[in-house]
Amino acid sequence: GKVRAHTHIISTIYDDRGEEPCYAGVPMSSIIEQGLGVGDVISLLWFKRSLPRYCTKFIEICIMLCADHGPCISGAHNTIVTARAGKDLVSSLVLGLLTIGPRFGGAIDDAARYFKDACDRNLTPYEFVEGMKKKGIRVPGIGHRIKSRDKRVELLQKFARSNFPSVKYMEYTVTVESYTLSKANNLVLNVDGAIGSLFLDLLAGSGMFTKQEIDEIVQIGYLNGLFVLARSIGLIGHTFD
Ligand code: ACO
Ligand code: LMR
Repeated sequence: GKVRAHTHIISTIYDDRGEEPCYAGVPMSSIIEQGLGVGDVISLLWFKRSLPRYCTKFIEICIMLCADHGPCISGAHNTIVTARAGKDLVSSLVLGLLTIGPRFGGAIDDAARYFKDACDRNLTPYEFVEGMKKKGIRVPGIGHRIKSRDKRVELLQKFARSNFPSVKYMEYTVTVESYTLSKANNLVLNVDGAIGSLFLDLLAGSGMFTKQEIDEIVQIGYLNGLFVLARSIGLIGHTFD
């Protein structure tokens, strides 16, 4: 008789059963005809919805500003060593990507989690930072080995101030940063912290997500994906270099 395999995988983001492939229900021709960009494609494939232009522009700015940060950073260093050892593009890329974690580029989700919790509970910066210290946890999104103030953080905040309906979480992290800076001058808000907090404002302010969806996005951890995607651009560049 006829042997049919059961469906093992269900994709809710891509559909090519019709005339043309769709990203979260939006046909590819429509994406091109409307002149949409990579931020829109990310909204469709990650968040399964079309987001307003200021949101997709913000996503694109995150990608552009995090694309590279020089050869001495752990990711680029690994990629360069791998490429110089004669390995191929994919090996060089993934060896760099594998260094992304809590101390480098992978603190965005934790920054969003901790800042959201602290801000939603109206903790003062003192209560939040000292509470983290008691638990022995470094505040994710705070601190940088070298930098005093990061231009990328300024640019992201400037864009949000003029385009987002609310920057409540960003304002909260600014007060946390003022407090940590009073302890040591390298305890700045870093780019991971800026993206984590501003993405909370994007999710909450866009009116496109329910409270439950925001909690899920933050708990599952979507946001490190922005850094992984962005830095792939630079790591590929370092491989070719
Ligand atoms: N919260 C509280 N205290 C901190 C923090 C922080 N986030 N960062 C540093 N400190 C304090 C600690 O007291 C630390 O002392 P300890 O080693 O006894 O714990 C002391 O400052 C040492 O600081 P540095 O030598 O400047 O720290 P280092 O250069 O080793 O680390 C780093 C820099 C990795 C960014 C660190 O600040 C950190 O872990 N931050 C939290 C995670 C984070 O945000 N990572 C993303 C960085 S941005 C990016 O990679 C794109
Ligand atoms: C980066 O974007 O790679 C950095 O912020 C990390 C670093 O240590 O400079």
